[in-house]
Amino acid sequence: MARDALSITDNRTGKTYEVAITDGTIRAMDLRQIKVSPTDFGLMSYDPAFNNTASCRSAITFIDGDQGILRYRGYPIEQLAEQSTFLEVAYLIVKGVLPARPNLNAFVHNITHHTILHENIKQFIDGFHYDAHPMGILVSTVAALSTFYADAKRIFDVESRKLQTHRLIAKMPTLAAFAYRHSVGMPYAYPDNDLSYAGNFLNMLFKKTELKFQPHPVLERALDVLFILHADHEQNCSANAMRSVGSSLADPFSAVAAATAALYGPRHGGANEGVVRMLMQIGRVDQIPAYIERVKKREVRLEGFGHRVYKNYDPRAKIIKRIADEVFEVTGRSPLLEIALELERIALADEYFISHKLYPNVDFYSGIIYQAMGFPLDMFPVLFAIGRTPGWIAQWQEMLVDPENAIARPRQVYVGAAQRDYVPLAHRPEHAEA
Ligand code: CMC
Repeated sequence: MARDALSITDNRTGKTYEVAITDGTIRAMDLRQIKVSPTDFGLMSYDPAFNNTASCRSAITFIDGDQGILRYRGYPIEQLAEQSTFLEVAYLIVKGVLPARPNLNAFVHNITHHTILHENIKQFIDGFHYDAHPMGILVSTVAALSTFYADAKRIFDVESRKLQTHRLIAKMPTLAAFAYRHSVGMPYAYPDNDLSYAGNFLNMLFKKTELKFQPHPVLERALDVLFILHADHEQNCSANAMRSVGSSLADPFSAVAAATAALYGPRHGGANEGVVRMLMQIGRVDQIPAYIERVKKREVRLEGFGHRVYKNYDPRAKIIKRIADEVFEVTGRSPLLEIALELERIALADEYFISHKLYPNVDFYSGIIYQAMGFPLDMFPVLFAIGRTPGWIAQWQEMLVDPENAIARPRQVYVGAAQRDYVPLAHRPEHAEA
């Protein structure tokens, strides 16, 4: 009997099968040989929401959820957040290695010189209602970019992929900033190539009548680190959307639009906005116990707590807590911070949260920081999308060059009606159900 194999006995037939175990997994397709008769389709695995299914082999991000470890291409997130910049991390994530200085300079130059948008894009953005959610604008306009860059369809051309990578990382902040300026009725502010990636983003958001915008260095660095912390997170909902749409061989702008849409929801990138709304709703420290009781009764969720993978403190949340102190030195302390700290203290000592292994995730403190920096709540998931763009691109590229790649197409367990005959409208009852 092979050691790295699983023996499966099918009690329906009494037959035993041996299935290879590789990297702690069995191949779902190996189950297909398990049949009760030659015409039987074969056994499938059932895994709604992919709770226990590896959908790919990936060399980008490593997470140990029990120990709270996160590494990009092998480098611990703590070291990258401390010593690196977002564009260097983007290079690392997309290309797999830390750049030598000339490579980094060339990469930064390319990103910096692709930040401008085609003027027509402004007309789309002008067409949105004044209070349109910037995430809705971002999803739509990034998808629209595919119509400007027809060459992006050449997804198996390495040079084309490189160009689209530069365009996407460069243009996401410009789209995001224009969406914001539209919502506040301000003229669009064009990119300033003298500034850093984060500094230029702050410029495009907050520049008023001054000739040159000077970002506050602490806030600029804080934003850069927040982008680093969001740059990739292996097979999360939006990465899965990126790979899934990309697997149909759609262009990367369309796939990033799908990934951005996936990020929009409150279970994913919308959670940081949810945290601030929750903290505002709680309002006062003495209201926390009542809120915790509502969470335990399952009336509401504790936003910014819990994670599919981390069953320990999210390592990104630890770093963010430190950034919060630096940002509040500049902006003044947010009154919501007191509530957040007390909420965390009470939750971490509470049996419900301990037994469910619910700890603060990346979103628990990021929203309060963004708010202190002057971002409106609607912009929070947009910031997440900018940071996550290199991760999406890396996931998409890895999928495309994977010899095992094929269109993402899960199976289902059909539980609907058996075959039945069509009944003409005139012969149906007057009041049919549903
Ligand atoms: N508050 C209260 N209970 C929770 C929470 C929470 N935030 N999260 C999970 N639980 C409970 C849940 O009720 C369930 O309990 P039981 O088994 O007794 O019914 C159990 O924990 C497992 O929950 P689940 O929904 O099956 O867990 P999941 O792995 O499918 O969900 C999650 C992960 C992130 C969607 C969930 O924890 C959640 O909704 N958290 C709040 C939203 C949030 O902060 N999202 C940001 C995630 S980090 C950023 C990102 O990667 O996008």
